[in-house]
Amino acid sequence: MAIANTTSTVTVNAAFLKEIKDVNEDLWQLVAELGEVTSNPYLIGSRRYQFIGMLEDLRDHLALHFALEEAYGYFDEPLQVDPRFCERARALRDEHRALYLEACDLIDRAMQLHDGRDMRSLAQSLVIEYAEFSTRLLEHEQAENALIQEEWDQDIGVGD
Ligand SMILES: [Fe+2]
Repeated sequence: MAIANTTSTVTVNAAFLKEIKDVNEDLWQLVAELGEVTSNPYLIGSRRYQFIGMLEDLRDHLALHFALEEAYGYFDEPLQVDPRFCERARALRDEHRALYLEACDLIDRAMQLHDGRDMRSLAQSLVIEYAEFSTRLLEHEQAENALIQEEWDQDIGVGD
C-alpha cells in the first residue's frame, strides 16, 4: 500500500478503478460470509478458528484490492482537476490505510477468543465491531463508485 502524499493533486482513472471493483467478487463474498458469522455472537464463539481465518483472508484481500486501486485506479498530478474532486479522491485513497489497519485490529481482537476468558462479551463486541467496520468499508466503496460516475459524467459532458 502506497503512503499517500497529502500535498499532491489526485484524481481517479474511472475505467481502471471500476474494473478492479468488478473483478474482486471474492472480497465481497467474504464480507457477506463474515456478516453471516457475525450475525450471532454464539456463531463467533463456536466457529472461532474459522472466523479468525476468514478475517485473515479479508485482510489479505483488502491489501491486494487497495494496492491495485492505488496503483491503477488513482493517479497523482493530473493536468487538470477540480480541487473539490481532488480532495475527495485523496481522502478516499487515504482511507485505505485506516481500513486495512482496522481489519488487522479485528484479527487481534478475535485472537483473544483463544484465551477463553470473557468469550461471550468479546463475541458480542466483535459483532458490533465487524458491523461498524463493514459499514465503513461499504461506505468507502459507495463513495469511490460515486467518484467513478462523476468522472465518467465529466468525460461525456453531463451537467456542463
Ligand atoms: Fe478504495
